[in-house]
Amino acid sequence: MLLFQIMGLMCSKGSDDKDASTTETLTVRYQELLATVERLEEVQKVTEKEKENLMHLLQLAMAGNQSIAQQLEHVQDQLPRNHDLEFVSEFRTKFEPLDVLGQGGYGWVLKVKNNLDDWEYAVKRIALHKSKVDLKEALNEARAMASFVHPGIVVYNYSWIEEPPSYWQIRSDEKMLNNLNLRCHIPLYRHDYSFLYIQMELCQFTLSKWLDENKHRDLKRMKSWFRQIVSAVEYIHGKGKIHRDLKPCNILFASKDHLKICDMGIVIEQQVDGEFEKTMTVNGTGTEEYMSPEQRALTSLNISHVTSASDVFSLGLILAELCVVMTYHEKVRIFDNYRRGKPSFVFENANTVEFIGKLTVLEKRDRLTCKKMLDEMYLS
Ligand SMILES: Nc1ncnc2c1ncn2[C@@H]1O[C@H](COP(=O)(O)OP(=O)(O)O)[C@@H](O)[C@H]1O
Ligand SMILES: [Mg+2]
Repeated sequence: MLLFQIMGLMCSKGSDDKDASTTETLTVRYQELLATVERLEEVQKVTEKEKENLMHLLQLAMAGNQSIAQQLEHVQDQLPRNHDLEFVSEFRTKFEPLDVLGQGGYGWVLKVKNNLDDWEYAVKRIALHKSKVDLKEALNEARAMASFVHPGIVVYNYSWIEEPPSYWQIRSDEKMLNNLNLRCHIPLYRHDYSFLYIQMELCQFTLSKWLDENKHRDLKRMKSWFRQIVSAVEYIHGKGKIHRDLKPCNILFASKDHLKICDMGIVIEQQVDGEFEKTMTVNGTGTEEYMSPEQRALTSLNISHVTSASDVFSLGLILAELCVVMTYHEKVRIFDNYRRGKPSFVFENANTVEFIGKLTVLEKRDRLTCKKMLDEMYLS
């Protein structure tokens, strides 16, 4: 009964609303609100008094001067939270959040302390809309991480899925940020989102941060870092996979001179035909800046053609950035030139020019493999 009354009120208001986008937002909000109320009714945790209050607030929303959207937000805030108490989050039970390390469209990476073993970890939380595709892609990341055991790859610990009640996650994130005194954008997760958590080794900072903050590049040191990265990528390729998103912010420092690759978000399986690796046709995804030309050359169907040699091209660009300090604009120009087959000569060392040249050949079959790179004098 309550639901019908609310619906009636909202429909009569929504129909003469002139702003389509506001109406759309309101409709989504309203559906979310309904879902919450339904859930509350389902678990019979809403008292008659609370229902009355809710009705009253909605009526105010209709009649008040404030926008309906604002009022609805207020109403959502007022909803009884008994159901929150029923949900036990494994994350909140096992870990103490310490910091936000990374944020993206997918969700967050948090620095945490495990309450039992008293050790610090990184936990990546990936928001999943309840579609099979989302879950498959996210599990692909956890499974790839779990299958890689190499000193140059971030150590995977454990993963699990949580399905909190509507709005629980947003409230919990708000509380957590308040406790940590942090200001971060909290995504407005839809009420039916669930979350995949991946617990992993905590690293210190990204290679992109180091590159931004350090203007001195010692060639010997850079080569030793690069060798570690190549050896990890060789391992990934040896496992029949392609990383597809190699770039400095997916490379972390485990300690002072020890680098590790992270973010297996778009790792894919190589396709092999006899002895030879076949070119894969994949959906265009990844970060354009460090992409090989073939990965970047999307067809009209948003499809690109990649092999493990596409990772090698990205490695070539990463080495270029390790060897010479570039402004953002210089970097864009130099990388674009490599993608057009024009090598750069900004490097002091002629061997560096030659080596990067071998990784960025336009014909992907002619690029060095990671295995061959490790045998080259340049990296010894
Ligand atoms: N294990 C980790 N230790 C420390 N920081 C991490 C770790 N994993 C990720 N991060 C931080 O979070 C950011 C985003 O993580 P990533 O797995 O790359 O997610 P996305 O898929 O959004 O790129 C990284 O660039 C890094 O700054
Ligand atoms: Mg990343």
